[in-house]
Amino acid sequence: MKAIVFLGGGRITSALIAGLRLAKFGEPIVVHDRHPSKLQKLKRQYGVMIETDLHRAVESARLLIIAVRPDSVRGLLKEVAPYIHRPVTAVSLAAGIPLSTLRTGLRSPVRWVRAMPSPLCRTRRGLTAMAFSGNFPRAARAEVLNVFSLVGKIVEISEEQFDAFTVTFSSSQGYHALGTLIAAAEAVGLDRKTARIAAAHGLGDAIAAWREGNTPLDELIEEATTPGGTAAAVMASMNDAGYRRIVEQGLRAGIRQARKNAGR
Ligand SMILES: NC(=O)c1ccc[n+]([C@@H]2O[C@H](COP(=O)([O-])OP(=O)(O)OC[C@H]3O[C@@H](n4cnc5c(N)ncnc54)[C@H](OP(=O)(O)O)[C@@H]3O)[C@@H](O)[C@H]2O)c1
Repeated sequence: MKAIVFLGGGRITSALIAGLRLAKFGEPIVVHDRHPSKLQKLKRQYGVMIETDLHRAVESARLLIIAVRPDSVRGLLKEVAPYIHRPVTAVSLAAGIPLSTLRTGLRSPVRWVRAMPSPLCRTRRGLTAMAFSGNFPRAARAEVLNVFSLVGKIVEISEEQFDAFTVTFSSSQGYHALGTLIAAAEAVGLDRKTARIAAAHGLGDAIAAWREGNTPLDELIEEATTPGGTAAAVMASMNDAGYRRIVEQGLRAGIRQARKNAGR
């Protein structure tokens, strides 16, 4: 049996498997984690195979997905290295860990690709950034793309852009913006239920309309903004207070954290 094997059975593994199950992906999926309770839960929820023995897990892999936190990656690769005796495709989900480090941890015949999936893969509304290492075999590349395309869209980007992408595309951005707008709306007089409806419309429906249509963002802003009106006053006040600068500052903090967690 040659399976898709997840090393690490935490949050993102659970989201990806849920999406794959929703997509009726029928190939064998094996999960290895050092917490048997997490494995049992995944088995119960998604009917995956579980493997507490790392050696057996690695041996059963056609596609190895590294889904441990960045500070655990180097240690895990050391444990895995003695068990690799044949070509295998390895996908690292770890934020901030470059291909060069991965290739040092597990050398050829392992071929590496970095992937940064969103937890929205759970509902197949994911987005996954990918960066393949050089000379990646065509068939292996197609296989990786096929698996991740089942749970959402894929965007191939250069590795240099990975950290910036990671901090920008996170669904936490949307949840955070939504929570902030709801709290501010309540502060200026809306009851909680109405604040939620209004904020979700202001953010979610506007973004959906932008994505579905062909109208440039500038034109949509102009349409929604009467000169001298309320929206114009809101945006001008937010811009004057450094809205753009604050968002950029947040992204930079995330990029620093990605590098720190990855020991760079
Ligand atoms: N969560 C997301 O939305 C998301 C999105 C994209 C990418 N990622 C990336 O995916 C990776 C996993 O993130 P996560 O949020 O899923 O983490 P998580 O929930 O903490 O899951 C990681 C799991 O792997 C286990 N583990 C670590 N080292 C191990 C080892 N040597 N052997 C067996 N099991 C081991 C961990 O156990 P311990 O807790 O004991 O360490 C934990 O159960 C990270 O590198 C992250 O950057 C996450």
